[in-house]
Amino acid sequence: MTSDSDAIGSFIPSLHKPSSLLPIARHRQSLLYLIETFPVTIVVGQTGSGKTTQIPQFLEQAGWCDENKIVAVTQPRRVAATTVAARVAEESGSKLGEEVGYSIRFEDLTSAKTRIKFLTDGLLLREALADPLLSRYSVIMVDEAHERSLSTDVLLGVLKKISKRRPDLRIVVSSATLQAEAFLRFFDRDQVSHGDNNPEAGGSIGRIISLEGRMYPVDALYSEEAVEDYVERAVKTVFDIHSSEAEGDILIFLTGREEIDTAIQLIADRATSLHPQAASILPLPLYAGLTSEQQLYVFDSAPENTRKVIVSTNIAEASVTIDGIVFVIDCGFVKLRAFNPKTGIETLSATPISKASATQRAGRAGRTKPGKCYRLYTEASYESLPEATVPEVQRSNLAPVILQLKALGIDNILRFDFLTSPPAELVARALELLFSLGGLDDYAKLTRPLGVRMAELSVEPMLAKVLLSSPSFDCLSEILTISAMISLQGAVWFHHDGEKRAMDTARRKFAVEEGDHLTLLNVYQAFVTKGKKEAKWCRDNSLNFKSMSRAVSIRNQLRRYLERFGINVEESLAGKKGPDVVKKGEQIRKCLTTGYFAHAARMQPDGTFRTVNGSMVLHAHPSSLMFNRKADWVIFHEVLETGNKTFIRDVTKIEKSWLLDGSLSTYYQVKE
Ligand code: CDP
Ligand code: MG
Repeated sequence: MTSDSDAIGSFIPSLHKPSSLLPIARHRQSLLYLIETFPVTIVVGQTGSGKTTQIPQFLEQAGWCDENKIVAVTQPRRVAATTVAARVAEESGSKLGEEVGYSIRFEDLTSAKTRIKFLTDGLLLREALADPLLSRYSVIMVDEAHERSLSTDVLLGVLKKISKRRPDLRIVVSSATLQAEAFLRFFDRDQVSHGDNNPEAGGSIGRIISLEGRMYPVDALYSEEAVEDYVERAVKTVFDIHSSEAEGDILIFLTGREEIDTAIQLIADRATSLHPQAASILPLPLYAGLTSEQQLYVFDSAPENTRKVIVSTNIAEASVTIDGIVFVIDCGFVKLRAFNPKTGIETLSATPISKASATQRAGRAGRTKPGKCYRLYTEASYESLPEATVPEVQRSNLAPVILQLKALGIDNILRFDFLTSPPAELVARALELLFSLGGLDDYAKLTRPLGVRMAELSVEPMLAKVLLSSPSFDCLSEILTISAMISLQGAVWFHHDGEKRAMDTARRKFAVEEGDHLTLLNVYQAFVTKGKKEAKWCRDNSLNFKSMSRAVSIRNQLRRYLERFGINVEESLAGKKGPDVVKKGEQIRKCLTTGYFAHAARMQPDGTFRTVNGSMVLHAHPSSLMFNRKADWVIFHEVLETGNKTFIRDVTKIEKSWLLDGSLSTYYQVKE
């Protein structure tokens, strides 16, 4: 195994069900007919029916990739894009990255040969900046559209616009649930009259095709009373199933990495006391922060006499299909983004799922034979769940997409054709932020060059602003590093079971008094001088070698962007000591403040933090250097919610006066 891509290829079990047995096989002709005939085809089918892996292959075989055209399949999640690309490459007997490739932010595995390309919907939107009609693509399949991720919704709006100018473009929208009609109505509305030839719904625009996949019945079992600790209960349920049920793998839905790690640990601990003659249990995590190989373990079949227990986030709800699951344990929660326009802060918090999600999760148990779903909540709570999840566009920070839409020439956001309109308050708040970052002018037009460049950089607007301001603070080289490191989203540190103390010691070794950003800079500089060649140095320092190598690659890509803007990157030498370092540190922190002023907070006498308007109580995350330390004003990169506490991660000390400087103060004035 030499690289990620090889690893993916070699981990997929080579024995799989022939694709001719999949439900979709019978629909091949009608699918191709609809796609040939109508600009828009909506495909509805159970998870596992073959939409993602088969449709692009049908299209390729039918000639949609001739004359160097590409079939694109978008995914809301990076993980899904990489795993399904690996699968399709394998099925079609090609090497991943050649005929079949994928492209996700900071990672492009495609070549001039690529005919089928999996990518995140956010990335396709970004491609539209350079190629506004997405002219390389003959067919664009928007997969998992029912999830209604922010980028999916925006992409659908943009595709609708493009299709008016490109009648040859074919759009396929695939959905695991019954929202098909809403999608078709969206493409159909405001069409000129259909004429008499097309009295059917969808007129001349499109059609819905449904692939009735075979599903076995799944028994839903509810908890008798409210569950206090669902992680604990999920673990107990695993062992109840293991001791009383026949064979079949278990899939547990939890909300995030920390819960998953805890559950895996608890299962592993308890599994040691199983009777030596009993079947073993193999717990495996599945969440987005894992490396590609780690993610692929879950697809391998378990060794003989072993029950696989996959502990997953919402990824396994519809995006990836794992065979052999007979039991599902559903905690009833999912981590969802929620942007509070009052505080200007976006959180990721555990929220009760919808009925549609609960059904979808249960369905994962009935793919190969009748299954059971253990719901860790009461039937009454189930009844009180909302029917469907609120689309992200109605509960997210819209600044990144508004910036992108503006860059695509869509100036009037309120008139943009959204599948569901965002609340005016969220739009106003996003415009305000972009304005105070200097990306928009008084007429809400992109500023040049700042706003235009911010839109082009593949990082969120606040970080983009920091990067673009760094030359004037004389710390571009350092900010490039910090940006790459925070783009790893917390995957920097790594420890084996029971080595948490070693990790804490290692972390202290790199600690910089002023906060996490400078600490990350320190870690990176040590890595490139001492640890780049082999994984051992990282292991000794509780660092994740893969992530650190990824940081190097991300940094190079960001650097290339800046060079394309004509910004010269002078690399400064690492490891300078003395007053220079202190001065540099201050410049870096000032520079960070130019982007993150909206994420400023002040420490209270009780050690918690309060946002600027005082309305939100925040805690330093245990992984932060500011955990249990004193500070006054700080800025932070992101907010995480666990249990009922709101944590801030990647925290750095600043001076209050920096917040009141120049453009920064406009943000606060606007608000008060
Ligand atoms: O997209 P949809 O949910 O309709 O189905 P799919 O992802 O195309 O999966 C079709 C079949 O391929 C299922 O039987 C999956 O189990 C299998 N598959 C797999 O074994 N490994 C993957 N990485 C992806 C799909
Ligand atoms: Mg799929």
